[in-house]
Amino acid sequence: MSDEKQLPVPSEKVSTPVPRLSSPSQIQTHGLTAERAAKIVNQSGSSRMAALLGIAIVTLFVIVYAFYDQGLPGVTGSSRLDAAKHEQYLETVKRGYNLFEANCARCHGAQGQGGIGPVLNDQGKLLAHLTPQYLKNVLTVGGRYICGDANSLMGVWADTNGGPLNYREIEELIAWIRATTDDVIEVRDPATGEMVEVTGWRDAAYTPAPDATPVPACWKDAFAVSPTPTGSATPAPTGGMGETYQISAVNPVAFEQSAFEAVAGVPFTIVFSNNNAGVPHNVAIHVGTPTGAEVFKGEIFPGIGTRTYNVPALDAGTYAFICTVHPNMAGTLTVK
Ligand code: HEC
Repeated sequence: MSDEKQLPVPSEKVSTPVPRLSSPSQIQTHGLTAERAAKIVNQSGSSRMAALLGIAIVTLFVIVYAFYDQGLPGVTGSSRLDAAKHEQYLETVKRGYNLFEANCARCHGAQGQGGIGPVLNDQGKLLAHLTPQYLKNVLTVGGRYICGDANSLMGVWADTNGGPLNYREIEELIAWIRATTDDVIEVRDPATGEMVEVTGWRDAAYTPAPDATPVPACWKDAFAVSPTPTGSATPAPTGGMGETYQISAVNPVAFEQSAFEAVAGVPFTIVFSNNNAGVPHNVAIHVGTPTGAEVFKGEIFPGIGTRTYNVPALDAGTYAFICTVHPNMAGTLTVK
């Protein structure tokens, strides 16, 4: 096919009368050289290629996106939906953390280590006692649900019962208390104002030792409360008694005294009055700080009552006197 030649025009068409509403054949073939015709054929070939490529790209994208969205087959938690769900869960945990720090930490400790209120971050308790349903009941009914104490210091939290928190906030609190050590949230450190990472308390893999004491329904039962009548004394240590010191537990769950002094090398007596009705307390003496070695532990008993503790002679130094049940109750004992 010669490039310059015009496409052949059938001769009989030239002579036939031009039909109405149609262009003359010269116009229909105008400029359509063999070269252009070849180009058009060529071009439509490459646009087919382009379309094919486009379809291939879109197909590939759909396949990749499907895996991204739905997750890899057999790999749990790899889907975008799961990731979004987990992110939302962590947001709930974070809100719960903030609610806990604002409302509960002053009594239960910032890490749930206990204080005026009982410890919450204990693994045995988290496993068997502090279930979501139990937590919901406690927060809805209030402290009397825990040990049946109508005068419990722990109030009602759910707004369905006149408390300050709505059902969503209760859910968030439960999510935080139940959060595991695998749940990492970013929160602002109240002291420094910096963002810090915090993990939940619960170890999901925790199993109690086979001989572990089961967690009692009422936390107070975990402390052996002996039924010794008020005023009975443990046998006095030999070697003569020193001074008698008066220590009292007062509302709200605190020692009235923050410090006292004793004489080194002489046994002494503590008369301890527990004025917190129904709340177990004692006086124990630890070396240096509340976490130091225990040198004396008085009997734990619920208020209202009094015990006389005979404390053996102590070496000169600084000690902490604490309540074994309530880590927030601590004072300083100076022996010299
Ligand atoms: C005024 C101090 C105080 C505050 C604030 C407080 N609690 Fe308590 N909480 C207690 C005391 C005291 C007990 C034990 C009550 C009893 O036995 O009667 C308790 C018991 C509990 C228990 C039961 C523990 C167990 O071993 O069964 C849970 C759970 C609990 N509190 C959660 C919370 C949460 C969550 C908040 C914050 C919304 C909170 N508490 C705020 C004082 C407090």
